[in-house]
Amino acid sequence: MKLLNKYITFLLFISFNLITYSQITKDYDLWLQYTKTYIYNDLLKNISLDTNNETEKVIKSELELASLKMYGFKPKFTNTGNADLILKKNSELDSSQKNISEKVNKLNNEGFVIETIKNSGKQRIIISSKTSIGLLYGTFRLLRELQISPNKKEFNIIDEPKLKVRMLNHWDNLDGTIERGYAGNSLWNWQKLPELIDRRYIDYARANASVGINAVTLNNVNANALILTPYYLEKVKALADTFRPFGIKVYLTARFSAPIEIGNLKTADPLNTEVQQWWNEKTNEVYKYIPDFGGYLVKANSEGQPGPQNYGRNHVDGANMLAKVLKPHNGIVMWRAFVYSETDSSDRAKQAYREFVPYDGKFEENVLVQVKNGAIDFQPREPFHPIFGAMPQSKLMMEFQITQEYLGFSSHLVFLPKLYEEVLKSSTKNKEKENTVAQIISSRSNELSGIAGVANIGNDLNWTGHPFAQANWYSFGRLAWNPELNSEQIAKEWLQQTFSNNSDFVASISKMMIKSRESVVKYMTPLGLHHIMGTDHHYGPGPWVNNLARPEWNPVYYHKADKNGIGFDRTSIGSNALSQYSPEISQYFGDLKSCPEEYLLWFHHLPWDYKMKNDRTLWDNLGIKYQEGVNEVRNMIKIWNDSKKYIDTERHQEISQLLEIQLKEAIWWKDACMSYFQSISNLPYPKEMEIPIYSLEYYKSLKFPYAPGIKPHW
Ligand code: GCU
Repeated sequence: MKLLNKYITFLLFISFNLITYSQITKDYDLWLQYTKTYIYNDLLKNISLDTNNETEKVIKSELELASLKMYGFKPKFTNTGNADLILKKNSELDSSQKNISEKVNKLNNEGFVIETIKNSGKQRIIISSKTSIGLLYGTFRLLRELQISPNKKEFNIIDEPKLKVRMLNHWDNLDGTIERGYAGNSLWNWQKLPELIDRRYIDYARANASVGINAVTLNNVNANALILTPYYLEKVKALADTFRPFGIKVYLTARFSAPIEIGNLKTADPLNTEVQQWWNEKTNEVYKYIPDFGGYLVKANSEGQPGPQNYGRNHVDGANMLAKVLKPHNGIVMWRAFVYSETDSSDRAKQAYREFVPYDGKFEENVLVQVKNGAIDFQPREPFHPIFGAMPQSKLMMEFQITQEYLGFSSHLVFLPKLYEEVLKSSTKNKEKENTVAQIISSRSNELSGIAGVANIGNDLNWTGHPFAQANWYSFGRLAWNPELNSEQIAKEWLQQTFSNNSDFVASISKMMIKSRESVVKYMTPLGLHHIMGTDHHYGPGPWVNNLARPEWNPVYYHKADKNGIGFDRTSIGSNALSQYSPEISQYFGDLKSCPEEYLLWFHHLPWDYKMKNDRTLWDNLGIKYQEGVNEVRNMIKIWNDSKKYIDTERHQEISQLLEIQLKEAIWWKDACMSYFQSISNLPYPKEMEIPIYSLEYYKSLKFPYAPGIKPHW
């Protein structure tokens, strides 16, 4: 008996460890789970593929892995036309496949065709493209289709990316920390590079390639010039070499004062010939290490970063100086438009437009002006940035944030594509032919175009800190490939690949994901409120903060609550930020009858007793919205509990625990904000709202010196 007990304990020990191990690999494997399917599929039995280059070797190993995991066998690779799956560049297709070749001819270099053909009673799949990278994208697409529709045998797919540069911006520092990173430390192990190529670099590249991400900026926009020294360039080269077979180019941030800091010059004035010469030589040196280096991302004259204005020059002088030295190498400059004045505190929302719009048409052709989705800073909801409708002669690149700086870090389940979609679908009504933001940033003919997402990736076992934050990485890639995609569709395909193909599971959890973005808006910043978070770390609520050095850093500047009312008046009698939009858009947001309630306090300052559509006062609605946000998180917990039977216990439990944090913090936001606003409005809480648990003084007293994402205050 004793022996049996011991044996059982041993078995339990083993199975516990196996489960833990399987959880780790599941979390780690992202959407590339290749879950075993019991539908026997012989589509991948015999594969015809040349393996002449590194990309084609990547295709081979991905097909081997997927086939082994999904079907339990390794495919046979042949070179005959007799295979079940044939991968060929269009230049190698034979005359009987002319119609496929014609379709490929019409696509760009990264596009592909997947087609099922039948001859002599046998069915085969052909993937064709102009390039090996296109074949890789076609392979990942086929594997996605096989995971979400395991029964499917016939394919008829033509696809190509709508944007040229589909980029992740890593805000990673050389000391391994990540600005606004909530998933551990940086993936890049600078200390052990270039020799040690961590397996994670390869899996990171696979994940990116599987959704079409083809560009990464490795380091923080708050840049360190040392990245451009030989010591680091050698390491950057090792990463670039690792990512190249996956179609990914490496970019770096360029600190504008680098000529002084690492070049021993006295100035970084972009019109100074020595400075120009320095950048020219430095750039040539970078290309010696990395022949296909992508280019520089620059944050200049913004939040204390150096820039051309330090020398009485402007953004065009700075961007074009770098563009000229990159041009012979086909490199590009991404010049950020995230700027706000250090002296003018009138309305921060207006300042980037004022600084950049006069330069429309003046940037070199290899410059992308990188514009954040909204005019303040990645808030849970912002109207689209007015610059998108105002610089028709310039190439504008979108910058979204994937890391959840203002949306609950990596503890809150928030499906961001709803936010991305809202911005991309916004019409700028600027009388140009291209009207929506998505159309404005997409390639006109064959021109340069781009989109960037500030990465949410770190060295946590699950990459992103929250298993559902993986969906935001995935979806960013999908929307970068095609900004017209629908977020619900993306949620479903992500769930199918990551968790389960069960239709009930996919239907209920995708609905939950879709609603999650609105819930976070409600429990943090409903009705158009914005920028009311804690100082520096941005963790939790801080609507009372009014003592920071610059007025526009203070939450009170943004909500302007006083005994009469609340909101930022951006109409013509206020800051008139609305005048930066087209007349139609300005009228739409400016008129209280048409302004959607979601944007009310972004554009209007209104009395507490202002009557809203539901016939209740603004004050009551504020409390009702905060409460709805909390209730919706409770509902998420319920929906998630009900989904237990569909997925593995470990990931289920992990997410349940994270949802508990989300609920606790949603209540905190509601209670802290409503206590504070009540101290100003002096009105009773609406009956729908649960009364705050603690006093306002308690919420104000909370301090988080070690909150992640920012250098701690020791
Ligand atoms: C925000 C963020 C900073 C970041 C900046 C930027 O202000 O809080 O950490 O550096 O955006 O985008 O440059």
